[in-house]
Amino acid sequence: MTRPPGAVSHLGSFLVAAALVLVVLTGCGGDDTVAVTTSDGPPSRGAQLASESCSSCHGQSFEGVDKLGPALRDNGFVRDHSDAELVAFIKEGRPREADDNRTGVAMPPYGGNTRLTDEDLVEIVAFLRTLQ
Ligand code: HEC
Repeated sequence: MTRPPGAVSHLGSFLVAAALVLVVLTGCGGDDTVAVTTSDGPPSRGAQLASESCSSCHGQSFEGVDKLGPALRDNGFVRDHSDAELVAFIKEGRPREADDNRTGVAMPPYGGNTRLTDEDLVEIVAFLRTLQ
C-alpha cells in the first residue's frame, strides 16, 4: 500500500494557509486599535465624571460660571491642598454660611452627586490637577 502522492503536502499547504490567515487577522486587529486612538487620547474617566457632575456650576471648561461656581482652572485652593484634602472637601462641600465661603453661593456636598465613590473623587481630583 502506498500513500496517494501529494496527500501530506496538501495537508501541509492547508496548515500554512491557516497560519497565514491567523497572522493577517491578528495584524489587522492591531492596526484598528492604532487607527481609533487620536493623538490627544480619549478623555480620562476623571474628566468625564467632572463634566457630568461639576460643569453645571464650574463651567464646561472649568473656567467658572458667574454666580454659580468659581473657575477650577488655575485655582489657588486646588494648588494649596493635597489630593486627600480635596477629596474630603468635595465630599463635605462649603455651605453659604461657612467662614471661608467667598462667593455667598454654596458648594453642595459631592457637588450634589452623592453617587460618586471615593475612587471617582480621586480620579476627579487627578483631573483637576491637569487644569493647574
Ligand atoms: C451647584 C453648584 C456646584 C456644583 C455642582 C459643584 N460645585 Fe464646586 N463650588 C461651588 C461653589 C459656589 C464654590 C465656591 C464656594 C465659595 O464661595 O467659597 C465651589 C467651590 C469648589 C472648590 C473650591 C475652589 C475655591 O476656589 O474655593 C472646588 C475644588 C470645587 N468646588 C470642586 C467641585 C467639584 C470637583 C465638583 C464636582 C464633583 C463641584 N465642585 C461641583 C459650586 C458647585
